[in-house]
Amino acid sequence: ATIRYEAESAPATCDGVVESNHTGYSGSGFCNSNNAVGAANQFTVNAASAGTATLAIRYAHGGTDIRSADILVNGAAVETASAFSATGAWTTWSTKTVTIPVNAGSNTIRLVASTASGLANIDYVEITDGDPPQTGDG
Ligand code: GCU
Ligand code: CA
Repeated sequence: ATIRYEAESAPATCDGVVESNHTGYSGSGFCNSNNAVGAANQFTVNAASAGTATLAIRYAHGGTDIRSADILVNGAAVETASAFSATGAWTTWSTKTVTIPVNAGSNTIRLVASTASGLANIDYVEITDGDPPQTGDG
């Protein structure tokens, strides 16, 4: 099943501001992180069973630099300084996909800026695991 978790809604936390001034986002907005190393957008996601899942991160980056970020799952880095490349406009959204290990039940996913520019604007993450669709899936 695939479940979407919006960056702007609890239990997600955004070190920065939730904004909605650039169109094309899902939900009610996106996380515009502080322009600082360590600025984070954290998600709490559910997995039906332990194993491997696909994490899709939807983001926009209208600048020209690369907004690198560490991707941590349950405190462990899955990718370090993973590149979030420019998408051409703040209203142009792209999806970056990463394979991650998950525990059964609750998992914490943390995107942490590795440059002083902060994160790209983050719209949501989606987790796809091998389990069939179930009640409560988005
Ligand atoms: C602009 C843009 C923001 C973005 C910021 C940045 O201010 O409107 O959405 O987050 O640039 O460079 O991080
Ligand atoms: Ca920003």
